[in-house]
Amino acid sequence: MNTESILKKAKEIIHGEGSRDEKLQSVCELLDREVELFDWTGFYLSDPNEERMLELGPFVGEATDHTRIPYGIGICGQAAETHETFVVQDVSKADNYLACSVDVKSEIVVPIMKNGEFLGELDIDSNTKNAISPELTRLCEEICEELAHIF
Ligand code: SME
Repeated sequence: MNTESILKKAKEIIHGEGSRDEKLQSVCELLDREVELFDWTGFYLSDPNEERMLELGPFVGEATDHTRIPYGIGICGQAAETHETFVVQDVSKADNYLACSVDVKSEIVVPIMKNGEFLGELDIDSNTKNAISPELTRLCEEICEELAHIF
């Protein structure tokens, strides 16, 4: 599937039947299945019970120790704080990084924003360096823009 078809399918999932978490899980499965370079795909959501804390939501891939991440810590925490997309093409060169698996080489984190409020983020790891192309970045950002509708 090309990125255009993946986006179309993601929109169908987002605006289809099911709970928010079921849709987030289906989006993870779609990206994991359709993008060869993606090896761990998941969501971290802003914890409603603790300020400036992320909690792990639906994901596809190996279990991670990082189920709760404070804002500012790691790539995920930095995206939560800055509300900006983070693309790291070589994680060995990132100084504020939390290793999920020794196999991971590159990562993208895209915030989900609604009316200026940070709600959560899409986090994707690749076991390949330089895996995050501008096209894949745009795909992830468009999916997150669409996901804001179901938060
Ligand atoms: N690498 C992330 C932590 C999350 S795991 O990759 C699933 C980070 O630096 O925030």
